[in-house]
Amino acid sequence: MTSIFDQKIDRRNTHSLKWDEMESRYGISPDDGLPMWVADMDFRPPQAVNDMVARAAEHGINGYYGNDAPYKEAVISWMKRRHQFDVSPDWITTVPGVVAGYSMAIQAFSEEGDGVLVFSPVYHAFGRAVRDNNRRLVESQLIERDGAYYMDFDNLADQVDERTKILLLCSPHNPGGRVWTAEELTRICEFCLEHNILIISDEIHHDLILDGSKHVVTSTLSEAIAERTITFTSASKTFNLAGFATAACIISNKELRDQIRKVFTACGVHATPLGSQATTEAYNHGDEWLTEACDYIAANQELLIEGLEAAIPGAKVMRMASTYLQWVDFKNVDLPFDEIVARIQKQAKVAVNIGSTFGKGGETFLRFNLACPKSTVEEAIKRLEDVFADLRIQTNA
Ligand SMILES: Cc1ncc(COP(=O)(O)O)c(C=O)c1O
Repeated sequence: MTSIFDQKIDRRNTHSLKWDEMESRYGISPDDGLPMWVADMDFRPPQAVNDMVARAAEHGINGYYGNDAPYKEAVISWMKRRHQFDVSPDWITTVPGVVAGYSMAIQAFSEEGDGVLVFSPVYHAFGRAVRDNNRRLVESQLIERDGAYYMDFDNLADQVDERTKILLLCSPHNPGGRVWTAEELTRICEFCLEHNILIISDEIHHDLILDGSKHVVTSTLSEAIAERTITFTSASKTFNLAGFATAACIISNKELRDQIRKVFTACGVHATPLGSQATTEAYNHGDEWLTEACDYIAANQELLIEGLEAAIPGAKVMRMASTYLQWVDFKNVDLPFDEIVARIQKQAKVAVNIGSTFGKGGETFLRFNLACPKSTVEEAIKRLEDVFADLRIQTNA
């Protein structure tokens, strides 16, 4: 059966980071390379979004944004019907991206030199946001068990001190694709309450659930946890809208809200008409699109698991329950890691993210973006079969 997502859309020369900076960053030409790195999709968003953009282009004026009521209604409705999260309009502030939002939260709620706890390996911008704000990165390395990541609760208390002020939580987790259970989230949040650590919950991947797991919004765990939690979400990963630079910061605690809004104001944060309307259209009309996208990505995952593990003896795909960012471990491949990377990037011309950039525990991994047409995954596997053929012969000998 064909899908709208099978369509190969030429993204070259469209100011796409993924395509138009692949050559400068990886030395891989977009003419024959496969961009499976930065986290955006090679899919068009729901039609309602592009219809809105066409209407806006026709009208032609792009001034400052006003009247955010329809946007907030759309966010509130989405959170309620998809995540059973009751949000009041005044809890929401629009920020120009989740990373920008949590970086400002770090500024608002900690001092230089304070510790920020993360579970590593984790989305590389976490470490950057902490270090670039002159805070101390406290990495609690995730434990791998039965092909999935788990938090290491046994060692947590030894890792924090009275200057650890913030937990920067990635839920669901990128990379690794874990959807944390309510029990795991409750345990970590209660630990934070005990140690007076504020919880910043990056839930940008919350809608991209591939296997029927249930994403639990951190703030819904209890009243006490909600009081100490700042939630960031966006339609950008869900519907491929990253270029609109629009995300929601949701806080029920008025004191925390007032404190962070001072920083937002100081930084001149404001929403944009296109970003807000794109989000509104996607949330109001994107349910069916999202179901299809998740099914499509899940099928790409099956393809990659089967094809890549057969192509490269020893390689192990960490099955993701969420995201479209496939984490693959090369620890048991009988080649130096640099050689594996060179074969994948230089010979096969597949651009992927390097695991060490995700922090402790990522050193033997690469991350493959599977939000692409199935034919791209098939082509990647074919190329990997070619460049690792010698390894298969050696292993089978
Ligand atoms: C966990 C996580 N947070 C945030 C982002 C980026 O969000 P934004 O573009 O809104 O800054 C990404 C992008 O991959 C991500 O994986």
